[in-house]
Amino acid sequence: EQLKGAVTFEHVSFRYPGMSTYVLKDISFHIRPGETVAILGSTGAGKSSILQLIPRLYDPTEGAVYVDGMNLKDVKMDDLRKRIGFTPQESILFSGTVEENLAWGKSDATLSEMKAAAQDAQIHETITDLKDGYETKLGQKGINLSGGQKQRLSVARALIRKPNILILDDSTSALDLQTESKVLDAIDKYKCTLFIVTQKLSTAKRADKIMLIDDGKIIEEGTHDQLMNTSTLYREIAYS
Ligand code: GTP
Repeated sequence: EQLKGAVTFEHVSFRYPGMSTYVLKDISFHIRPGETVAILGSTGAGKSSILQLIPRLYDPTEGAVYVDGMNLKDVKMDDLRKRIGFTPQESILFSGTVEENLAWGKSDATLSEMKAAAQDAQIHETITDLKDGYETKLGQKGINLSGGQKQRLSVARALIRKPNILILDDSTSALDLQTESKVLDAIDKYKCTLFIVTQKLSTAKRADKIMLIDDGKIIEEGTHDQLMNTSTLYREIAYS
């Protein structure tokens, strides 16, 4: 399947159900399989709203979204779930063991698959240092992880599926530069298409395409080098 990992937005406008204002306004882009896309923009710009349309948490109000070359309207949810790994802004972990949390959504995951994904997400050693390792209970009746640890566990959970498309919605914000860079190096090996919301210039630099979002629109797009040349706004972000 040649288009495995391709994502296309075709004149997508979106308002949340029951709301009158559009939060996305005529968004179009085409991402080729395996590309890394960094999404930048101020709070409330619409970054999460764009990304939520890819795993079909919502449907566009106007326009169409294509994943792996297929209009999302024609894709079965079960099928879509296998293609996309999505880590939302707030990590969703539940009271249960580390292992149960990792396998959530892929109940047939083996321990060795979990460990490989945890290693890639730079969380394996943290887990093995816990009292009961992968069997350690999290949440109310167990231990609490830090924000960055939760994020890495969520990334590991998404990697276990070996998705064609990985969406990290600010899911590496609590990681230091070096750890984030190790996680991204590991993700490179998956050859998946990656969408990453980030504030970090080092992450934007790695991207094949940077999209600068403001008020529901893509206001600039290009590589780091291109935008450094052409975009005053991007330069401001880069030097801030
Ligand atoms: P940050 O996450 O703060 O960096 O912002 P963002 O760029 O991801 O923006 P987001 O897509 O979350 O929000 C865009 C607009 O949609 C804002 O005006 C939000 O208030 C609004 N919005 C976001 N989520 C919802 C929702 O679930 N329901 C409704 N009605 N509005 C929402």
